[in-house]
Amino acid sequence: MMNWISIGTLSDIPRRGARCVATPQGKIAVFRTADDQVFAIEDHCPHKGGPLSQGIVHGAAVTCPLHNWVISLETGKALGADEGAVRTIPVRIEGERLFIALEALASRAA
Ligand code: FES
Repeated sequence: MMNWISIGTLSDIPRRGARCVATPQGKIAVFRTADDQVFAIEDHCPHKGGPLSQGIVHGAAVTCPLHNWVISLETGKALGADEGAVRTIPVRIEGERLFIALEALASRAA
C-alpha cells in the first residue's frame, strides 16, 4: 500500500539539482534532471553514507560528493566498478506538484 506525501512543486528543485526531504523513513533525496525528470532515492550513499542530494547530477545519475561514486537515479545502483545500491522511491507528478510514495507505516509494521 502506497502512502503518497506532497513534497512541493517541480520549480522548488533547480534543474540538475536536488532537495532533501525528511520523512519518518529517513532522508530522501529528490532530483530533477536537465530534461525535467524527477527521481527520489535515499539520501545516503551506499559507500559511506554521503549526502547524495549534495552531489552533481548528470544524465540520470548523481555523483556522490564524498568519494565520487556514481549512483543511477533510475535503479539506485552504483555504476561502474563500485557495488552497492540505495532504495528508490516512487515519484508522481501531477501538473507542477510532486509526490513521493512511502510505504504505509502500518504495512511496514505488519
Ligand atoms: S560516501 Fe559516497 S562515495 Fe563514499
